Amino acid sequence: MGPEAVIEVAGLTRRFGSFTAVQQVSFSVRAGEIFGFLGANGAGKSTTIRILCGLLAPSEGHACVAGIDVARDPEAVKRSIGYMSQKFSLYLDLTAEENLEFFGGAYGLGRRALRQRGRELLARVGLRERSAEITGRLPGGMRQRLALAAAMLHRPRILFLDEPTSGVDPRARQSFWALIREAAREGVTVFVTTHAMDEAEFCDRIGLMADGRLRALDTPDGLKRSFLPGEMFHLELSPDRSIDALASQPGVLRIESAGAAYRLRVEAGRFDPEKLRALLGPAAVRVERVEPDLEDVFLEVVTQARGEAVP
Ligand SMILES: Nc1ncnc2c1ncn2[C@@H]1O[C@H](COP(=O)(O)OP(=O)(O)O)[C@@H](O)[C@H]1O
Ligand SMILES: [Mg+2]
Repeated sequence: MGPEAVIEVAGLTRRFGSFTAVQQVSFSVRAGEIFGFLGANGAGKSTTIRILCGLLAPSEGHACVAGIDVARDPEAVKRSIGYMSQKFSLYLDLTAEENLEFFGGAYGLGRRALRQRGRELLARVGLRERSAEITGRLPGGMRQRLALAAAMLHRPRILFLDEPTSGVDPRARQSFWALIREAAREGVTVFVTTHAMDEAEFCDRIGLMADGRLRALDTPDGLKRSFLPGEMFHLELSPDRSIDALASQPGVLRIESAGAAYRLRVEAGRFDPEKLRALLGPAAVRVERVEPDLEDVFLEVVTQARGEAVP
């Protein structure tokens, strides 16, 4: 991808015994990008991250992070990146400040520099007032921000965040994402995994993993254009009514049920809400044109991947 790629992955594969967790994955990430790595549980996201952080050796293929071959010099990789693991490793019985001191010591930061940097980061992540509190007593969202601060102590230019917002409420997720964007504005490259599709919209580009393979890679809009051509409608039908009348219409590309409602995708220009209402008759409770979201893309990618899989 040219000189400014800070993560370059080619044919990356990782096996555990006879099981292949990551299979022939290739991509690159540019400096300053927020790169989202999406996929269901077990898709191979954490395994990929652990390889990129120098914590796990690849079985095959190559990965370069900050210009360093992860298989050749994993220790140098660890020094140049920040990593927030899925089960992040704060000490719950230490205070927020003590946690930063502990992790900073591991990075070889001097006592004075560490104090200063620790204070700066605690303020940045909104924990200045809570720095003397026992970490285990902080709410989940604050602990996650503290874990981010710990990953940023040594001013890494690349941050790997493995499901940093899992298990916290929407407000805490929002403030976490504000911190991610702030880091990216300063030129830090952020590689973040999530299975929250609304968060994925904040990423510059997204890689979609399914069953160990990278199934799609593009900007959020690019993914929508290539995987969901046409137009989408949201339909709600009265109970016990069938959507069959639509299924056989020319121009209908896909109907997905979403609870009591449906997502209908059609060729562009073929339908409008009036025409759909007429076709559905009294069954139609609500007919609305909608923009596809990444959840729709994810469903489509996974459906296509299943179709290609050898049974
Ligand atoms: N150390 C391991 N030994 C055996 N299997 C593993 C190991 N680590 C991960 N796996 C398996 O590899 C697959 C991918 O796991 P993981 O990378 O953690 O997925 P994700 O982070 O996308 O949920 C899963 O099926 C998981 O059980
Ligand atoms: Mg994981």
